[in-house]
Amino acid sequence: MLQPEQSWSWLAVAIGVLLAAKPSAGRDLFGSRPSILLLMADDLGIGDVGCYGNTTIRTPNIDRLAEDGVVLRQHLAAASVCTPSRAAFLTGRYPLRSGMVSSNGYRVLQWTGVSGGLPANETTFAKILKDKGYATGLIGKWHLGLNCESPSDHCHHPLKHGFDHFYGTPLSLMGDCARWELSEKRAALERPLRLGARAFAAAAAALALAAGRLGGLTARSWAPAAWAAAAAAAGLGAASRCLGALIVHADCLLMRNRSVAQQPMRFQRTAALMLREVSAFVRRNKQGPFLLFVSFLHVHTPLITTENFRGRSRHGLYGDNVEEMDWMVGQILDTLDAEGLANSTLVYFTSDHGGSLEAQFENHQYGGWNGIYKGGKGMGGWEGGIRVPGIFRWPGVLPAGRVVHEPTSLMDVFPTVVQLGGGQVPQDRVIDGRDLLPLLLGTVQHSEQEFLMHYCEQSLHAARWHQRDRGAVWKVHYVTPVFHPDGAGACYGRGVCPCSGEKVAHHDPPLLFDLSRDPSEAHALTPDTEPLFHQVMERVARAVEDHRRTLSPVLLQLDTPDNTWKPWLQPCCGPFPFCWCDREADPG
Ligand SMILES: *[C@@H]1O[C@H](CO)[C@@H](O)[C@H](O)[C@H]1NC(C)=O
Ligand SMILES: *[C@@H]1O[C@H](CO)[C@@H](O)[C@H](O)[C@H]1NC(C)=O
Ligand SMILES: *[C@@H]1O[C@H](CO)[C@@H](O)[C@H](O)[C@H]1NC(C)=O
Ligand SMILES: *[C@@H]1O[C@H](CO)[C@@H](O)[C@H](O)[C@H]1NC(C)=O
Repeated sequence: MLQPEQSWSWLAVAIGVLLAAKPSAGRDLFGSRPSILLLMADDLGIGDVGCYGNTTIRTPNIDRLAEDGVVLRQHLAAASVCTPSRAAFLTGRYPLRSGMVSSNGYRVLQWTGVSGGLPANETTFAKILKDKGYATGLIGKWHLGLNCESPSDHCHHPLKHGFDHFYGTPLSLMGDCARWELSEKRAALERPLRLGARAFAAAAAALALAAGRLGGLTARSWAPAAWAAAAAAAGLGAASRCLGALIVHADCLLMRNRSVAQQPMRFQRTAALMLREVSAFVRRNKQGPFLLFVSFLHVHTPLITTENFRGRSRHGLYGDNVEEMDWMVGQILDTLDAEGLANSTLVYFTSDHGGSLEAQFENHQYGGWNGIYKGGKGMGGWEGGIRVPGIFRWPGVLPAGRVVHEPTSLMDVFPTVVQLGGGQVPQDRVIDGRDLLPLLLGTVQHSEQEFLMHYCEQSLHAARWHQRDRGAVWKVHYVTPVFHPDGAGACYGRGVCPCSGEKVAHHDPPLLFDLSRDPSEAHALTPDTEPLFHQVMERVARAVEDHRRTLSPVLLQLDTPDNTWKPWLQPCCGPFPFCWCDREADPG
């Protein structure tokens, strides 16, 4: 009888031979095509997870996935912020190709009521699998646009991009959703509203004064008018703050397919509602195959955590939120087990990018931890912003406990699941992802990703070269953010590090690191310390040139005017701006 390990390698070789013979034969390979369950956390750092080395935070369910599956140790997001990273994930293409980047510092889609979003002619893996007969669903965060011209054209809606079922938020959870101190948007919106109110009040006072003078009135008689103007100014100021809050709250909404289900979300119930939907979706489609993308609202600020998990971790509210998300992962895996679907489902877990170092105030850290890696969310090139967890589990097919150190990309999920589902990768456009299956099975040693480009908005900040014959992973930085002088390796102030302007440094010669020896990017190499310095620079420069030749100009969806709030595009379930409704029954 074969030992388990031998039977693994036997199976792997057999599958490898089959794969080589027939590269997109998902259906024939395993008897039937697997269902696919993709789990994506929001803003989770690679250092926040037990199986990636965290010893004090409890993530037993993610760790269990890792024990039973393949762990990718150099798994890279195509961008260090949500919208572009998610666009790349769903399309298998650098976000610059679909125009899902900005050039002016906006970075992500700012509001639900903007006209930008994932263009209709982009093909997601969901669209291909749906065409191949998969039941497809998205539960959770989208953040890739909603409307183009009217509040219900839903031109960028998940249902237009291959999902037959959507339950979640078209935008994102934000600090502002809970009047959180780290306001991303309300502060920005209130400022012009407040200035407008002041200008209006000043004009009214001046008018009252002038009218009083003209009418030959005494100070005593026009004083009441001035008081009235001051009161109006105060009233307008308060009204503008209310309006700001209403608009921001209207953006924290939950949708069921095309209709608004809850506005604003009742946050304490959201996790339970999402789990209820996941379980209903899995039960409804257990005959398979299905593709379910669960895109968690955890662990983005404002760290909405239910009573059961508050105060339980050793890392404050952030740790509580991570542990709650891990619990949700466990609940979802339990549903698969209960339906007997574990062996016929490929499960994947990742985060859209690294943890946010800037999410802090009053000496509390409300963002993630990126372990030994430098930098974090929002930084184009530094490893901490883009190196994320990546775990695949498929019992009976993928070897349990395998660890892969090769560079891989979140964009690789696209060709991998398309081929497993028996689909064809589009031939009419550049696809940057590479099929991961041979690497996961262990039938090849090296990743097909030889070069990876690391963008910040539309500008290339760094590039990675996996020099396979030497086993080296070189990283060349052309541009890096200028950190706050306190030396903690972050930018601070509001938001994340910018991609251009005065707050970035341009390097000539570029900075060079060998990640295989220096994963923390602590020691930049020089021609004196690294004999291959010039050779590496030249090779990478050539790869960058080759890459640039494959780009064609597209409209940038994240620039003004497509990323500017348009009141008429705002989904609202009441008379605007009173968007207030709850059509969701309590989860049992
Ligand atoms: C574990 O994660 C927490 C929360 O982000 C972090 O503060 C802590 O430093 C991490 N511990 C280790 C050993 O990585
Ligand atoms: C969305 O619509 C599809 C098709 O009508 C339906 O099967 C699915 O249950 C709906 N999803 C939700 C969340 O109601
Ligand atoms: C699932 O696969 C594992 C690993 O091959 C095997 O041990 C287990 O018996 C399978 N479970 C079922 C229900 O087939
Ligand atoms: C989608 O349409 C835009 C605008 O016409 C065009 O620039 C872009 O190249 C198209 N993309 C694909 C993948 O065909």
